[in-house]
This record gives sequence, structure tokens and C-alpha cells, in this order.
Amino acid sequence: MSTAPASVAVLGLGSLGTALADAFLAAGHRVTVWNRTAAKADGPVARGAARAASPGDAAEAAGLIVVCVLDYRAATLLVEEAGPRLKGRTVVNVTNGSPGEARVLAERVAALGAEYLDGGVMAVPAMIGGPEALVLYSGPEEAFARWSGVLEAPARPVHLGTDPGLAPLADLALLSGMYGMFGGFFQAAALVRSAGLPVAGFTEDLLLPWLRAIGGILPGMAAKVDSGDYSATGSTLAMQVSHDSIGDVSRAQGVSTELFAPVFELMRRGVAAGYGDGDMAAVVELLGRRSASRAG
Ligand SMILES: NC(=O)c1ccc[n+]([C@@H]2O[C@H](COP(=O)([O-])OP(=O)(O)OC[C@H]3O[C@@H](n4cnc5c(N)ncnc54)[C@H](OP(=O)(O)O)[C@@H]3O)[C@@H](O)[C@H]2O)c1
Repeated sequence: MSTAPASVAVLGLGSLGTALADAFLAAGHRVTVWNRTAAKADGPVARGAARAASPGDAAEAAGLIVVCVLDYRAATLLVEEAGPRLKGRTVVNVTNGSPGEARVLAERVAALGAEYLDGGVMAVPAMIGGPEALVLYSGPEEAFARWSGVLEAPARPVHLGTDPGLAPLADLALLSGMYGMFGGFFQAAALVRSAGLPVAGFTEDLLLPWLRAIGGILPGMAAKVDSGDYSATGSTLAMQVSHDSIGDVSRAQGVSTELFAPVFELMRRGVAAGYGDGDMAAVVELLGRRSASRAG
């Protein structure tokens, strides 16, 4: 273990909460658990956790309180139930929600005399404790600095900033990237299947290596979005939409274009808006404004 043993409470023992409690136990921390349906605590207790009779009892036994329940409504209920017993402690809420919900709960926790960090878990329960697991945090820097050694047990912790809304926003942005990739896979799979090719071999031998290689251009595109300088370094946006081969071939093969058509249409609008000679990253300008204000 890279840090001294700490007292950690885990409130909520669904699939993710149980994996988090187990990771803290495995790292040698003193873990107290509570779950609305008490029987779900049996596993962690058998593995060394202490059982608490209420969220307040769990909170009082620990310095770091991890909340992992279905939604913010449930998380808020637990915070209210623990109430003043949270005073002087740090609440880390990894329940999924919006930036606005994170800020409201952060204020409530602060009013109870506790610190609040919001967390976005970028892992499924089976990944917790493994090398690929990542949790995004936002909230007071001092709170993160104090607990980051303990928070390393379940996943690599990354602090994004003091606004508690940043972690949920970045969580959703990462999921947006993931769903975009899935959409591309769905279209590619339907196309190759329509030609009688097995999807598995195509994916393993061609699609995955292609996506890994082409992913390498993203940092360059990101720099263009940040600077607003969309000068083309290779392909222009106009070239990308000079023909609709993907749409044409999909239609000819009897494959729906419902996934690809909106992307193609956006790129065409980019040309109409005057970005044709530039890099395709310019389409980000059509999706929303740049803002210096905090995450909505
Ligand atoms: N699983 C994942 O892959 C994953 C990954 C990243 C983020 N997340 C997020 O992590 C959170 C937990 O996910 P999960 O997979 O652990 O969900 P889950 O297995 O469905 O567990 C839900 C948990 O919430 C509790 N709960 C629900 N309503 C409650 C209420 N009103 N009062 C008290 N407790 C309540 C449940 O208690 P009972 O046992 O009593 O029903 C249970 O402990 C969610 O926000 C999810 O979006 C999950």
C-alpha cells in the first residue's frame, strides 16, 4: 500500500459500491459499509469490513465517506440522513449525475461542515482495482490532495478542478466519445455483414488497428479547436464531403444511413459556413459556443 491505512466508509453496495469497498479493503484500509438493503453488506463484511446500522453511523466511523448509489436523489437522502454527523469529514460522491446536481449537493455538504468531492467513475466494476480504471474528481484541491493516496486503491484518481460540476461533465464527454466510436462500429459492422464478410475478423484485423492509428490525429484536431485556427494540415473539410460514398454504398447494400447521415450533414453545413478549406475539426464550431464559464 502506498499510503497509511485510513478509515473509509462506503454508502451504497450495488455492483460498483461493492467493488469500491473491496478495493479499499484490499489496500489495507479500515472500511465501514452501509447499504439500504442490509444483506448486500454481508459480502464486504465477510471480507473484513465493519457493518454500520445507518449512514450516520458509517460516516462517524470514517474520515472519507464514499457515496455510490443509483442517483442524486438517493445520494441526497443519505447526506440528509447523516446530517451533522458528516462534520469535519470528506464526502466523495461517485453517483452519476449532472454538473448542476453535483454543485447543489456540494453546497449542502459544505453547509453541514464537510468537504465535497464529486467523482466520475470511468470503469465497470470488474475493472476496479485494475490498471485501466480511472476516476475523475472535482472539488477543493486540498481535499483531493489529502485523500488522493487513499483514492488510488480503486482507480487512478485525476483531479480536474475546483468546480464540483467538472467531473460529471468530463465523464459525459468521455462517454460521448465512446458512443461515437460505438456508432462507427455499428455502421462498419452492418456494411461488412451486408457483403457477407464475418464481422469478428474484420474488427480484429482491420477496424481496431485502423481506429488506433487514426486516433493519433485527435490531439492535433483538439489543438485546432482550442486555438480556433482550423488551417488544414492534410485533408480539407470540403474534400471529406465532396461525395457521399458511405451513404451511397450503404443505401445500395440495404444498410441504413441513420447513424452516418447526421455526421455527413454536419460536415456539409461546415462547408456552407465557410470552413471548407480548413480542417474538419471546424465542425465543433457548429455544435456550440466556446465559454469561459463553468460547466453547465
Ligand atoms: N456499474 C457501473 O458500471 C458503473 C460505472 C460508472 C458509474 N456508475 C454509477 O455508479 C452508481 C451506482 O451504480 P451501480 O452499478 O452500483 O448500481 P446498482 O448495482 O444498481 O446499485 C444501486 C445502489 O443504489 C442504492 N439505492 C438506490 N436507491 C436508493 C435509495 N433511495 N436510498 C438508498 N440507497 C439507494 C441501492 O440500494 P439497494 O441495494 O437497497 O437497492 C444500491 O446500493 C450509479 O450512479 C451508476 O450510474 C456505475
